Amino acid sequence: MSKTHAAYAPSSDASRRILDEIEEQFRLTKEDLTRITAQFLEDFSLGLREYNHPMAMIPTFVTGVPNGSETGTFLALDLGGTNLRVCEVELLGNHEFVLRQQKYKVSDALKTGEATALFDYLADSVDAFLTEYASAVPSSPSSERGNPFASPSLSEEPAVPLGLTFSFPVEQTALNEGKILTWTKGFAAKNAIGNDVVKLLQDAFDRKHLHVKCVALVNDTVGALLSRAYTGGSCILGSIFGTGTNGAYVERVENIKKLGNSPARQKGGYMVVNTEWGAFNNTRTVLPTTPYDNKLDRQSINPRLQAFEKFISGMYLGEILRNILLSLIDAAPKPLLFNGRSSGPLNTHYGLDTAVMSEVEDAWETGRVSSVPVAAVDSAKSKANGVAATESQPSSVPDWQSTHFTDVDSLSPDDKARLARIQGILVQRLALDPADVSLRDAAIVRWAASLVAHRAAQLSSCAVAAVLVQTERAKLGGGFATDEEKICVGVDGSLIQHYPNFNARLRDSLRELVGEEVEAKVEIGLAKDGSGVGAALCALQATKQGH
Ligand code: BGC
Repeated sequence: MSKTHAAYAPSSDASRRILDEIEEQFRLTKEDLTRITAQFLEDFSLGLREYNHPMAMIPTFVTGVPNGSETGTFLALDLGGTNLRVCEVELLGNHEFVLRQQKYKVSDALKTGEATALFDYLADSVDAFLTEYASAVPSSPSSERGNPFASPSLSEEPAVPLGLTFSFPVEQTALNEGKILTWTKGFAAKNAIGNDVVKLLQDAFDRKHLHVKCVALVNDTVGALLSRAYTGGSCILGSIFGTGTNGAYVERVENIKKLGNSPARQKGGYMVVNTEWGAFNNTRTVLPTTPYDNKLDRQSINPRLQAFEKFISGMYLGEILRNILLSLIDAAPKPLLFNGRSSGPLNTHYGLDTAVMSEVEDAWETGRVSSVPVAAVDSAKSKANGVAATESQPSSVPDWQSTHFTDVDSLSPDDKARLARIQGILVQRLALDPADVSLRDAAIVRWAASLVAHRAAQLSSCAVAAVLVQTERAKLGGGFATDEEKICVGVDGSLIQHYPNFNARLRDSLRELVGEEVEAKVEIGLAKDGSGVGAALCALQATKQGH
């Protein structure tokens, strides 16, 4: 990151110092990133050796990845992203699938109330979905009276198999069994921690007399890995950069030392491990914590937990930006933003959505003439079943800093037009008085947004690099060439899909960490509908095993 030259306001050294200091706090050098990645690797091996570490390295009991020939129709229930989703997934066996889904809102009251109420709501949603939408789920009898699976007279029929994607840390003990370790992402339902999540759900189905059996439990990262392998033929890492962040990768069973002499370990081979990297470095010895991060953490529902996730994910980036903007509004001796005036959304905890940051950066990138615009994950290919799969292409990140320091009046009409668009977004989304939002304010907000997002993408690359090194596909510092033609990584989540330049920024620092040769082989592809398809694939594996 280059140092800034022209003063924000020529007369004010104090103003310039404040902005310079913020930029400095968000700067991450190659050495910083290397140190963070090295710590990642240490935490990986600790988590593989022993239970009860924040980087939980959870064995998933998924011992193979699909090849795309799998068939069957399954129900999937997905909790842990922005919405609750119920899907019916038909695996067609030719790398393709058909998915029908319905989204349901989960209120804050449900997220933080009694667990039974939350799981009853999940069961109700499945019931509603089956009544209204499901068609081809196996053994689905026709019925004219609503949900056929609710009928006690059908109890002789085999129950409808359902895969649960539960995107929270769960210590799994089998494909269909696992205790909730902790909540994340704003969930805090009571009397759930320590309980078997499959049982909590099954009990709710049974309370409602639903003829549905939860046969498999899967994390969304595992879902991303499996679905990417299903559609793309191979995949070594499934990762989520969305509301939360996490990754699951394929590990040699012999390396999962904490499995001891269990049958799973004796069997050898490979197993998917859910790293739970959102909890990396909760002690914050290597994470570059700023006062803006500290404020976010202290005011969060889970202080001192999910440290890495709080630097990276969609739930938090807007809040970090809000903290920066408030500090500039309150700056002394004179305000540096919005004439020192705030607004309702800016004064509200989580009042600045990461989507607004994304809009601001998008407005800046759109119409940029000086460099190549980059989509987060690009070149969408439509599949016959209507599901879009995407591939990434390496690209360089356009120059993104320093405009806030230049004299806005001397900018080109093009640049001024882009700032004017940002001005409009700020007035609209943050309910600011237009008279309080100058073009310079727009430039400062964009600059602050890109500081936060750039750091998030750089840190994300550390997690990906750590997996490449852990699986012996790369060496930290580069200089290693795997003979694999490509290294497939499946991703999902709003940041990687929609945040301008997130993917390109991630790749740029991945290149620094593992070298150009390895980075060029990494194919980052969207694991679209990973949660649904992954759960279906796990349900298939479970039914084959007789669950
Ligand atoms: C959870 C993970 C999940 C990730 C992405 C994190 O908060 O702990 O289990 O995979 O979010 O959804």
